[in-house]
Amino acid sequence: MGIPFIDLKAQFRAIEPDVRRRIEAVLAHGQYIMGPEIKELEAELAGYVGVSQAVACASGTDALLWPLMAWGIGPGDAVLTTPFTFFATAEVIAFLGATPVFVDIDPATFNIDPERLALALAALETRDPDLHPLPENFRELTAKAVIPVDLFGLPADYDRLLPLCAERGLKVVEDAAQSFGASLHGKRTGGFGDVGATSFFPAKPLGAYGDAGAVFTDDEALAKVLRSIRIHGMGDNQYDNVRLGVTGRMDTLQAAVLLAKLAVFPAELAARQAIAERYDAGLEGLVVTPRVPKGMASAWAQYSVLSEKRDAVRAALSKEGVPTAVYYPKVLHQQPVFRHLGYRAGDFPVSEAASRSIFSLPMHPYLDQATQARIIKTVARAVAE
Ligand SMILES: Cc1ncc(COP(=O)(O)O)c(C=O)c1O
Repeated sequence: MGIPFIDLKAQFRAIEPDVRRRIEAVLAHGQYIMGPEIKELEAELAGYVGVSQAVACASGTDALLWPLMAWGIGPGDAVLTTPFTFFATAEVIAFLGATPVFVDIDPATFNIDPERLALALAALETRDPDLHPLPENFRELTAKAVIPVDLFGLPADYDRLLPLCAERGLKVVEDAAQSFGASLHGKRTGGFGDVGATSFFPAKPLGAYGDAGAVFTDDEALAKVLRSIRIHGMGDNQYDNVRLGVTGRMDTLQAAVLLAKLAVFPAELAARQAIAERYDAGLEGLVVTPRVPKGMASAWAQYSVLSEKRDAVRAALSKEGVPTAVYYPKVLHQQPVFRHLGYRAGDFPVSEAASRSIFSLPMHPYLDQATQARIIKTVARAVAE
C-alpha cells in the first residue's frame, strides 16, 4: 500500500475544526487582501522567532529577494551562498543583477562551510581564484552579503558565520525557508543575521494551503522598507510610490490557515523529533544518518541520508509503496542558467558528492511507528543485497 511523502490530509483531519473556523471568519469579513489575520499572524510569528518585526509575504522567494532589494544589491555585487540548496536561494541574487559566489558545504551538516567562506572572501578580496573557485567576472565583484541556508531544517553554523561576516561588514540573510521551528542555543531560526527569510510552502514544517512566506528582523527601518516593497514600493499610501516594489502580499486566507496550524506546531515539531530519533536508531550503520551538532535542534523539514546504494534503496522502497525524493540532484553551479558564471565540475566537491548519494525518506508528524518500521526494514534489506 502506498504512503504519502508528506501527509497533509492526516494533518487536516487533526486540525479541521480550527482551520474551518479560521477560514469561515475570513469569508465572513471578506478582507482577502491585508485582512486582520495578517497583523495577527505577524505578531505571532515575531514572538515565536524572537524578533521585533515579521513581514508576511507571498513566498519564501519574495522573503529572500526583498532584503537584497532594500539594500540596493545589484550589478558588481557578490552575494555568497551554497550551491547545495533550492534554486531560489541563488536565483534572487542573479535576478537583481548581482553575482552568486558559491561556497562548498560541510559534509556533516550540508550547510555552508565557514572555513571555505573565509577562503572565498579572501579570494574575492585579493582577486585570486587559485585560493577558491570564483565566477568568471570576479575582477568586477565586491562582496556585499552572505545567504547561509538552514538546509533540511538544520541551522547553519552561525557561531562561526556571524563574526566572520560582521568583521567584514557583510549583510547576512538567513535562508530559513526549511528551518522554521529550529533553534541554535535556544534561539529560533529566522532570527540570525540581519534578516531571516522563511517559506510556508505547503510541504514546509509550517505550511500554508498555497504559497506564503515571511521575513524576520529586529531592524525597524528595514522592516518599513520591506512593507513598502510588498505593495509596489508604496509610500504614505498605495497611490504614492517611492521605490520599485512587487505584488508580494500574503493572502489573508493563508494567514488564517497558518494561525490554525501554529497552534499545533510545537506538538508537530516534537513528533518530527521523535520520528527522526527512530530513523536514527533504525538506520544506524545502514546509511549515513543526519548529524545534529551540539546546541542545535532541527525542524526536520527533511530526513536526508547518504548511501552509495541510493538508486537500489530507492527502487526497493518504491516497490514497497514508499516514496523518496532527492534534494538536490543538480548542484546550482551546474545549472544551465548559471553556465555563464564559468564554474566547473569539481569546483565544489562536497556538494557534488552529496548530490550523487543523498535521498530523503518520508518525514511528517503523522508518520506512524508501524509504517516507519516497514520503511527501515526495507532499507536494511536493500542495503544487504
Ligand atoms: C532553501 C529554500 N530557499 C528558498 C525557498 C523558496 O521558497 P518558496 O517556494 O516559498 O518561494 C525554498 C522553498 O522551496 C527553499 O527550500
